[in-house]
Amino acid sequence: MIDFKKNIGEKISKVTKLDVEEIISYIEVPPNPDMGDYAFPCFKLAKIFKKSPQVIAEELKENIKLDENIEKVEIVGGYLNFYINKLLLTKTVLTEIENSKENYGSSNIGEGKKVLIDYSSPNIAKPFHIGHLRNTVIGSALYNIYKYLGYTVIGINHLGDYGTQFGKMVEGYKRWKDEYDFEKDPIADCMDIYVRINNLCKEDENILSICRENFKKIEEGDPYFVEIWNKFKELSLKEFQKIYDLLGVKFDSFNGEAFYSDKMNEVIEKLESKGILKDSKGAKIIDLEEKGLGVCIIKKSNGSTIYATRDLAAILYRSRTYDFDKCLYVVAYEQNLHFKQVFEIAKYLDISEKYLKGLQHVPYGMVRLTTGRMSTREGTVVKVEELLHEAIDRVENIIKEKNPNMENMKEQAKRIGIGAVIFNNLCTTIIKDQVFDWNTVLNFNGETGPYIQYIYVRTKSVLEKTGNIPNLTDVKFELLQDKNSQKVINILYNFENVLNSVIDKNEPSLLARYLIDLSQSYSNFYNENRIINEDKDIQNARSYLSWAVGLTLKIGAKLLGIEMPERM
Ligand code: ARG
Repeated sequence: MIDFKKNIGEKISKVTKLDVEEIISYIEVPPNPDMGDYAFPCFKLAKIFKKSPQVIAEELKENIKLDENIEKVEIVGGYLNFYINKLLLTKTVLTEIENSKENYGSSNIGEGKKVLIDYSSPNIAKPFHIGHLRNTVIGSALYNIYKYLGYTVIGINHLGDYGTQFGKMVEGYKRWKDEYDFEKDPIADCMDIYVRINNLCKEDENILSICRENFKKIEEGDPYFVEIWNKFKELSLKEFQKIYDLLGVKFDSFNGEAFYSDKMNEVIEKLESKGILKDSKGAKIIDLEEKGLGVCIIKKSNGSTIYATRDLAAILYRSRTYDFDKCLYVVAYEQNLHFKQVFEIAKYLDISEKYLKGLQHVPYGMVRLTTGRMSTREGTVVKVEELLHEAIDRVENIIKEKNPNMENMKEQAKRIGIGAVIFNNLCTTIIKDQVFDWNTVLNFNGETGPYIQYIYVRTKSVLEKTGNIPNLTDVKFELLQDKNSQKVINILYNFENVLNSVIDKNEPSLLARYLIDLSQSYSNFYNENRIINEDKDIQNARSYLSWAVGLTLKIGAKLLGIEMPERM
C-alpha cells in the first residue's frame, strides 16, 4: 500500500537534506480533515535553518515537487498542510483490502523476532478474580496482534502454584478434608480452608511452624505432600480452563512458579558470587536503596525462596530457552516495584544485554465493580466464570425480547455477551482503572463491544440486500469522494498503522478505540448515503465499502478476542 506519510517525509527530506526518519517523526495528522491529511510543523526546523516557521513553510512549498500522491499543499500558521489525492487513496485502500481479504492489516514486520508474553497467571487454590480476567484479555489481545504482525509469540501462564501458603493449604486439607466435596466449587472450598487455617495460624504459632515445615516437604518432594499439592493444582486448572474456554484464550506454556523450584539455586549462587547478597537477620537480601528500589528478599530466614526469586529464575530460563527479543509481563501496576527490582537484579545473572533490554512490565489498572456483592473481600468473591455466564444470560434475555426467533440464539448470545466483557476490559488505556457496570458493558449504542458487533451485522445486512459483494472492477472510486465515505476510507487506510502502534506501546485499547471510530464513521456514512440505489454504480461503490468495513471490523474484533455474531 502507498505510504503517504513516508512519501511526504521523503519529499521534505529531499528539499531540506535532513534525515527522512526524523522528518517523518514530526509529521502530524491534523485534528480536522479540512486542514489536510498530514501536516508538517515547520517550527521543528526553525533552529536548524535559523528562519521563522512561516519562511520555512513558504520555501518548502515552493521547492517540494508534487506528484500524483498529493492534491495540494497549503500553509496555515507555521504548518505545511498536505492534502493527499483522494481518488488515489480510495483506490489504494480498496485494492489492498481486495487483495488481502481476511489478512488485511497483517504484515511481516515481526519476522524473525520472538516475543514472550507472561499473562493471566492466576494463583492456584485461589479464585480467578476480575483482575486476572482483565489481565487475560489484555495478554491475549497482545498475543494475537503480535502474531498478526509476523512475530513468533509464546504465551506463558506463570501460574502461582508455589509458596508458603501451600504449606498452610496442605495442613488445612489434612485437618478438614472430609467436610468438603471439592466437586461443586473446589476453589471456594480451598478458599474456605485457607481462611480457616490462616485464622488458626494467627492464634497458634506452633501451627504456623507446622505449615512452614509442610511447605519445605513439598519443596523436598515428599510424595504425600506433593500429591495433595498436585490435587489443588489439578482442581484449580480445571476451573481456570472453563474460563479460558469461554474466552477462547490459549497458552503455549503453563510453566508456573513451581517449575522453577529446582532452578533457584543457580540464581542464588550467581548473586552470591557477584557479592550483592547481604545477610539480614538470617535472610538473604539485596539492598537496592541507592537506586530508590528498597530492599528485595531473595531467601527468607527459614531458607525458603520467594516470588521474586522465582521470577529471576524464570528470566534465566527464558533467556536460555527462547532467545526472545521481548519478554512482556502483563501484571497489575501494584507490582511495579516488584518488576523494577527483579529487572534490576537480573543484570547480575550474566545474561546478554539483548534479553535485559527485552524485559518489560506491561502494567494495567484495577477493575472496580459497581455492585457491592462483587467486592473481593474474604467470602464474597466475584466468580469470573459466573460473571461470564451472567453476561451471556443477560444478552439472551435482551434477544428474546427483541428478536425471539433468532436462529442459533445461544451462540449469538455467547459471542455478544463475552465480546461485551472483553471489549469493556480493553476500551480504556490499560493503565487506567476500569469500572465494570452492566449498563455500560451491554449498552448496544455506547462505545461497547455490542455496538461494534451491531455495526458489523449492519454491513452484513446491507450486502444481503444488495445480493452480493460487488467486484472491485465494478467500483467507481470517484463515487466515494464525499466527506463521509472519505472519512471511512481514511480510517480503513490507518488499520495497519494502528496495529503497529498497539505493539509499539503494548496498548490494545488503541485498537478498541479504532474499531469504535470505524463503526461510528460507518454509521454516519450509512445514515447520509443511501446504499440501496437505482444507480447501480453508486450501489456498487457503497456496498463494496460496506463490505470492506465489515471485514476490517471482524478482523480487528477477532484480534481483541471478540467473535462477531451473525445476527443481532
Ligand atoms: N500470580 C501473580 C498474581 O496473581 C501474577 C504473576 C505474574 N507473572 C510473573 N512472572 N510474576 O499476582
